[in-house]
Amino acid sequence: MADQGIESVLQETRVFIPPSAKDVGGPEWLISSLDQYNEMYKESIDNPEAFWAKVAEDFHWFKKWDTVLEWNAPDAKWFNGAKTNVCYNCVDRQVESGHGDQPAIIWEGEPVGDNGSPVDQRTLSYKELQTEVSKLANALKSKGITKGDIVTIYMGMVPELAIAMLACARIGAPHSVIFGGFSAQAIADRVGDAKSKMILTCDGSWRRGKVVELKKNVDDAIESMGNDSPVESVLVLNRTNCGAPMHTIDSDWATETGAASADCPCEELESEDMLFLLYTSGSTGKPKGIVHTTAGYMLFTATTAKYTFNLVPDTNQTFWCTADCGWITGHSYIVYGLLPNRVPTLMFEGGPDYPTPARFWQIVDRYKVTQFYTAPTAIRAFMKWGDEHPASCDLSSIQVLGTVGEPINPEAWMWYRNKIGRGVCPIVDTYWQTETGGHVLTPLPGATPTKPGSCTLPMFGIDAAVCDEAGNVAKENVGGLMTIRKPWPAMLRGVYGDRQRYIDTYWSTVAKDGEPYYAAGDNTRRDELGNFWIMGRTDDVINVSGHRLGTMEVESALVSHESVVEAAVVGMPHEIKGTGIAAFVTPAPGFEGDDDLIKTLRAHVATEIGAIAKPDMIRFTNALPKTRSGKIMRRLLRSIAAGDINITQDMSTLEDLSVVAKLSEKDEG
Ligand code: WTA
Repeated sequence: MADQGIESVLQETRVFIPPSAKDVGGPEWLISSLDQYNEMYKESIDNPEAFWAKVAEDFHWFKKWDTVLEWNAPDAKWFNGAKTNVCYNCVDRQVESGHGDQPAIIWEGEPVGDNGSPVDQRTLSYKELQTEVSKLANALKSKGITKGDIVTIYMGMVPELAIAMLACARIGAPHSVIFGGFSAQAIADRVGDAKSKMILTCDGSWRRGKVVELKKNVDDAIESMGNDSPVESVLVLNRTNCGAPMHTIDSDWATETGAASADCPCEELESEDMLFLLYTSGSTGKPKGIVHTTAGYMLFTATTAKYTFNLVPDTNQTFWCTADCGWITGHSYIVYGLLPNRVPTLMFEGGPDYPTPARFWQIVDRYKVTQFYTAPTAIRAFMKWGDEHPASCDLSSIQVLGTVGEPINPEAWMWYRNKIGRGVCPIVDTYWQTETGGHVLTPLPGATPTKPGSCTLPMFGIDAAVCDEAGNVAKENVGGLMTIRKPWPAMLRGVYGDRQRYIDTYWSTVAKDGEPYYAAGDNTRRDELGNFWIMGRTDDVINVSGHRLGTMEVESALVSHESVVEAAVVGMPHEIKGTGIAAFVTPAPGFEGDDDLIKTLRAHVATEIGAIAKPDMIRFTNALPKTRSGKIMRRLLRSIAAGDINITQDMSTLEDLSVVAKLSEKDEG
C-alpha cells in the first residue's frame, strides 16, 4: 500500500460530516475537528466530575446524585446517592417524550424463502418494546425473581433476547448472558458461579440453515449440576419448533408473557446496583464474571455510541452491529448504548454467508443501514469471498464503518473503506474490553485523522497512557502496557465473587506512588501524533475470530479427556481468524496420536467449551518442551505453531521436542 493512499485517506476522513447531520443543521455536540476533540478531551480529563455531571443531565433520574465520583482505588462509585433505571432510559423515556411510535429494534431472522427474501422480519417501536419488556418483567416476577437475583439468558439473536436483558434491567435483576455457541458445560460453569435461579432460553436458534438446540444444552447443564443446580425455573421461547422436551421447571414464554400484565413500573435502582454479569476469559482458571453497574455504564455506553458513530435521532439512521448479544459488544452497542440515543438498532439472527455471502450487504441495502460495526475477522472473510457480493448491493446509505475485537490489518482496513465505504466513509477502529464497558480508544468520524491499523486516540474521560510497571509513561514509539490512570464511569466494578482476582488481574501491575492504575492486559505504543497501536496481549488470552479465549481453558478441556496426559495451547497466525488455536498434546499410554484422536479431541473441546474453542491444529509430542525449572516453553511452541521452526510436516507423528527445547532454553529465559 502506497503512503500516498494513506495520506488521501487522512484528508478525506478529516473533512467527513455525516450527511444526515447536515440535514438537521448539525447537532451542536457533533465533533467535526481534531481541535474540537482535543479541547473537549482536555476538559474531560482535567475535570472529569464536571464533564460527566453535564453528560448526566441528558438522562432520567428518579433522584439526583450526592457525589459524581467517590474513588477509593480500586473501587469507584459513580453518581452515588442517585436513583435511576437503565431500562427507563432506553425505552420509557422515548415513549414519554412522544417518540413511542419510532422504531427501536429492527430484526431479521435467518431463514429465507424460495425468492431469497427473509421469512421473518420484525420492527418494534419504543411503545411496543415497552409493552413486551413489561410483560416479560412481570412474568419473571411471577417466577419469584426479585431485585438482585441473577438471571441467565442463553438465546439466539432474536428480539426477545434484547427484551429479556431490558426486562431484567427493569426489575433490577442482573442478567448473565451466555453466548449461544457455548456448550452445556460452559453453561453449568457460569450458572453455578452466579448461583442463577432462572434461565431464559429458546428451543433452538437458526445458524447457517440448521437448528442449534439451545434448550437441550440447558437441560444437559442442569442435569450435570445435579443437586447443586441453583436453577428453579426455565422460560423457553419457541423459535424453531424443534420440539424441545419440557420439564417440570420449564414454562412456555408465550403463555407466561401472554398472561402477564403490561404494566410494570421501573424499579428505582441505586447507581451502583449491579446491571449485569458477563463471563469472559482470563489467563488463569475458569472464565470470570465481570460486574457492571447501573448509572456509569449507562452514561458511558450511550455517550461513546453517540460520539463514535455520530448518532443523530430523527435523521433516518439505522445502526447495525453484527456482534452477538452474548458478548460485551452486543450488550453495549446493540442494546444499552443504542436505545438511549433514539436511533434504531438492527439485530440479525444468522451467519454472514447464509444463504449466500451477499447476505450482510443485502441487509445493509434493505434497511438502509447508516452505521455498520463488525470485526476484522469478518472483513477478512468478506475479502476472501469476493468483491462481487458487496458490489451487487446498494451500500450508499453507509455513513460510518466500525471495527472491534482485534487489531485490523491495513489490507483489510483499505478493503473495508473502498469496497464497503465507497472510499469515503470513515472507519472507527474501536479498542475496548468487556472490562471497560465501552470504547476507550477510537477515532471520531469527521474529526480524527485515521491510520489503518491504529485505534488512534482516547475517548472522552479516558486517561489512557503507555506505561511501564512503575507508571512511567513510555517514550514515543516505545512499547509498554496499555494503562488507564483514572477511573471512568463504565469500568468494571469487580470480578463476581472474587475480590482478590479483581485486584490481582487489573490493579497490581502498574502503580505510581502507590496509586494503582488499571492495566488492560495489552501491549501498546503511541506514535509521534499520539495515536495508539495495540500490539497484542500481555497474558495468555488469545483473540480467535474476535472472540476472547484463555489458552488455559482450552488446555483444561483437553486434559479432561482420558487420552491426554498433558497439553499446551498457544495462539498462531491465522489468515481469517487473526489468531488460530494450536495445541501440543502428550497422549496417554495406549493412545495413538493419529487423525482419529485429533477428531476426537476437537469434538471434546467443543463439548467442554464450544465450537469456537476447537483447536485449528493439534500436534502430538511425547513430552512438552520445558525449562529446567519446569515451565512450558510457550515462546518455542508459538514459533513452532507459526512455522518459524519447522520440525516435522507430519502432524500425526509423535515429536521429540526435548532437543529443540535444549537449544532454545537460553532464549526462553
Ligand atoms: C482486543 C471486545 C486491537 C484486545 C470489545 C482487548 C482489540 C480484547 C481491539 C478485549 C482493537 C479489542 N484493536 N485489539 N480495536 N478491540 N481488542 O473483552 O486484546 O472480548 O484486550 O472485548 O480484545 O476483548 P473483549
